[in-house]
Amino acid sequence: MKHWKCVFVLMTCYLVAHTVLGSLPAPVNVTVNSVNFQHVLRWDPAPGTPPGTEYNIFKRKVLNSTTASLKLKLHNERTYYLSVQASYNQTLSPESHNICFTPYKDTKIGPPEVSLAGCGNCIKMNMSLLEPDSSTGIEDINKYYDVHFTVKWRREGHSMSLETRNKSFTLDNLQEGMEYCVQVHTHIRLNGNTQPSTWECILTGPVEHRVAALLIILLGLLMTSVFCLQYTGLICTVKATLPRAIIVRIIHLSTQI
Ligand SMILES: *[C@@H]1O[C@H](CO)[C@@H](O)[C@H](O)[C@H]1NC(C)=O
Ligand SMILES: *[C@@H]1O[C@H](CO)[C@@H](O)[C@H](O)[C@H]1NC(C)=O
Ligand SMILES: *[C@@H]1O[C@H](CO)[C@@H](O)[C@H](O)[C@H]1NC(C)=O
Ligand SMILES: *[C@@H]1O[C@H](CO)[C@@H](O)[C@H](O)[C@H]1NC(C)=O
Ligand SMILES: *[C@@H]1O[C@H](CO)[C@@H](O)[C@H](O)[C@H]1NC(C)=O
Repeated sequence: MKHWKCVFVLMTCYLVAHTVLGSLPAPVNVTVNSVNFQHVLRWDPAPGTPPGTEYNIFKRKVLNSTTASLKLKLHNERTYYLSVQASYNQTLSPESHNICFTPYKDTKIGPPEVSLAGCGNCIKMNMSLLEPDSSTGIEDINKYYDVHFTVKWRREGHSMSLETRNKSFTLDNLQEGMEYCVQVHTHIRLNGNTQPSTWECILTGPVEHRVAALLIILLGLLMTSVFCLQYTGLICTVKATLPRAIIVRIIHLSTQI
């Protein structure tokens, strides 16, 4: 009698477990969308999932979500096995397949921002990566990763590239008055998911602009000297015509000023 009771309890347990796990399909297409250490877990409800279903997210501890995505706060160097389970009217689906995610290796590193300035026969450039949110504890992404840049540039079919660790860089020995296009690639030994900047084009120091600048300076010098001549001439005539007392008074006033 005791024996039968035990089997009955086991069968009930099995039936309950079966219906609880069997009637709701597990979420599918589980992925982490992660850029610059902003991690969002996404999934698709499997066909047949009723509206209003909630989800349990397994990440060491269980998190809950009512939408098909969840922003995650993760330790940069830990490896996580993430999975999602649907939950509806006290029925649970099986867990989705696990996905493995390690932030520092797997987050995408967005393109570097590049600023360019022509400087005659050269181009000065600054490269910077978007710094992750301060909540990640990363203060300087270049230091965190030991970042290298490959600077590629091209002009009318010629192209060259150079490697640097510097965030400021000058391309030298270029032709003046020419348009060069520049693209910067980021290299990180520990993370291959880097994106290059778009090609950006700039004129090196245009020759005609420099000539114009020189002309303006020369014209300025000429006008200043003409003005000086007039000014000193005026003082001379004042000195020659005014009585001595007035001259003294003018000098006195001007020293007060
Ligand atoms: C899963 O992803 C594939 C590819 O993006 C898509 O075609 C499919 O519809 C997705 N499944 C569901 C249930 O949304
Ligand atoms: C998430 O859902 C599970 C199962 O329904 C529940 O046990 C748990 O308490 C919920 N957690 C939170 C943080 O709401
Ligand atoms: C929830 O489940 C109970 C019994 O398992 C059922 O009677 C009820 O109709 C269900 N509710 C919904 C909204 O599906
Ligand atoms: C590069 O950065 C330095 C220092 O922040 C700045 O003085 C310089 O103008 C920048 N150059 C370019 C081309 O943006
Ligand atoms: C990088 O910058 C340092 C000084 O900040 C300079 O000495 C070095 O030549 C630069 N390297 C390149 C490749 O420009």
